[in-house]
Amino acid sequence: MEVRLDKFAMALWRYSAFFFLLTTCSYSQDVLEDEWTPKFAMPIANVTVALGREAVLSCTVNNLGHLKVGWLRAEDQTVLSLDSKVVTHNVRVSVSHEPESDTWRLHIRQVKPSDKGCYMCQINTINMKKQVGCLDVHVPPDILDAGTSSDTEVQEGDNVTLVCAASGQPPPRIQWRREDARLLQIYNGSVGFVTVDSYSGERLDLVKVDYTQMGAYLCIASNDIPPAVSKRIVLKVNFAPVARQSNQVVGAVLGSSVNLVCNFHAYPSDNTSWYREVSEIHEYGGDYKIGVTRMSYEVTLHLTVRNIRPIDFGKYFCGITNNIGQARSTITLYEIKVETTTVPSSPPTTTTTEPTTTPTSETTTVATVPELSTSTEATNSNEIEELASLFNDNTKRGAEASSRRRSYAVSSSSSVSIGISLFLASISYQLSSIAASVR
Ligand SMILES: *[C@@H]1O[C@H](CO)[C@@H](O)[C@H](O)[C@H]1NC(C)=O
Ligand SMILES: *[C@@H]1O[C@H](CO)[C@@H](O)[C@H](O)[C@H]1NC(C)=O
Ligand SMILES: *[C@@H]1O[C@H](CO)[C@@H](O)[C@H](O)[C@H]1NC(C)=O
Ligand SMILES: *[C@@H]1O[C@H](CO)[C@@H](O)[C@H](O)[C@H]1NC(C)=O
Repeated sequence: MEVRLDKFAMALWRYSAFFFLLTTCSYSQDVLEDEWTPKFAMPIANVTVALGREAVLSCTVNNLGHLKVGWLRAEDQTVLSLDSKVVTHNVRVSVSHEPESDTWRLHIRQVKPSDKGCYMCQINTINMKKQVGCLDVHVPPDILDAGTSSDTEVQEGDNVTLVCAASGQPPPRIQWRREDARLLQIYNGSVGFVTVDSYSGERLDLVKVDYTQMGAYLCIASNDIPPAVSKRIVLKVNFAPVARQSNQVVGAVLGSSVNLVCNFHAYPSDNTSWYREVSEIHEYGGDYKIGVTRMSYEVTLHLTVRNIRPIDFGKYFCGITNNIGQARSTITLYEIKVETTTVPSSPPTTTTTEPTTTPTSETTTVATVPELSTSTEATNSNEIEELASLFNDNTKRGAEASSRRRSYAVSSSSSVSIGISLFLASISYQLSSIAASVR
C-alpha cells in the first residue's frame, strides 16, 4: 500500500514537473516568437473580379523558415494548396511563389459565381496561424426565363402583373419601360393612378388595364456590370373595336385610282371587311385591292380602287368584328369633275409625271392627278415629250438641262410655250384636287 502511495506521489511529482517544464518552455517560446517565428506581413487584400477573369489573392509571410504556407477555402476548410503544390482537383486553381519573395499567391482562373467567398492563408506552426481574404465575383445581369412573364393576353378591365426575375452579382435592379416610350400607368393605392416613364421593381402591377396599355413592355435588368439585359413582354388587351372616323368623304377623278383608308382601334382584329353598298369586296375584283396594317391595337384598312368607273362612286363601308364587339365606318367616294377645256389635248406619254405633292392626310388619300396616258396625236410629239422631260427633270439635271433648254428655245419658241402651259395645267390640277380633298 505504502509502495503504491509512493508511486502515486512520484507520478504526481513527475507530472507536475513535466507540466512546469512544459509551461516554462511554452513561455520561453512566446518570448522568442517575435524574433524568429513566422508572421503575416499584411492582411490579404480582398479582390473583386469579373466573371471569367482571373482572381489572385496574395499572402505575405515573414520569417517562414522551414514552415509551409497553405491555402484553404474558408467556408468548408477545403485545402487548395500546400507550399507550392496544388492539392485540389480544381484545374482552375494554381499557386505561385517566387523563391526570393515572401508572398504566396493563390490564382483562380476563369472565376465562376461559385468561387465567391473567403480564402484562408495558413502557416503550419504549432499554434496554427491564419488570415483570410475574400473574393467577390461580379456577374453581369441575366434574365431568368423561369420567373419571368411571357407574352400575356387579358381582357380590358382585368388586373395583370408582369414579373421579371434576374440573376447577377451584385443583384440587378429591375426597371420597366414601354418599348414605344409611352408612359406606364401605375396604380398607387394611396393616390390612385399615376403615369410614369419607368417603374422599378420585379413586379409590374397593372390595374384595370385599358387598351392603350396594350403593347410591348421591356423589363431591363442592370447592376453596373455590362451588359444590361432586357426582355420584351407583349401585353395584348382584348377590347371592342372602335372606329377612329365615322364618316369620310373622298373625291376622285374618273379613270384615276384612289386609296380609301379606315383607322380603327381593335384587338383582336383578324376579321376585317370592306363592303360596297351591300356586297363584300374581295381582293380578286381586279381593280380593287385591299390591305390591312396593324401597329399594336392601331389597325388601318386600305382599299385601293383603280380605273375608277362611274359605278365606283358611292358608299363604302369598312369594318372590324371581334369576339367582344364590332365597329364600322363609312366612306363616300364622289366624282371630281374635270374641266376639259384647260386640259392640253396631247399630254406626254412616256415621261414620268408623278404627282409632285404627296397627300399629307392619313385618312383620305386621293389620287389627284388624272392619268395622262391618252394617245398622242400631235405631229411634233417627240418635241413635246422632250420638252416635258426637260421641265420635269429640270431641278435634277441642272446646267446640262438648262443648256439644252436654251438651244430649244432658240430653235422653236412655240414648243416652249406649249410645254409651259402643260406644266401650269398640271399644277392647277393638283391644286384643284387638293382643294377637293380638303372639302
Ligand atoms: C475583406 O472582406 C471581409 C468580408 O467582407 C472583411 O471582413 C475584411 O475586413 C476585408 N478585409 C480587408 C483587408 O478589407
Ligand atoms: C384589381 O385591382 C384593384 C386594386 O388592387 C382591386 O380593387 C380590384 O378589385 C381588382 N380587380 C380584379 C378584377 O381583381
Ligand atoms: C404612392 O405614392 C406615394 C406618394 O406619392 C409614394 O410615397 C409611395 O411610395 C407610392 N407607393 C407606391 C407603391 O408606389
Ligand atoms: C366576321 O365578322 C362578320 C360580321 O362583320 C361575321 O358575320 C363573321 O362571322 C365574322 N367571322 C369570323 C371568322 O369571326
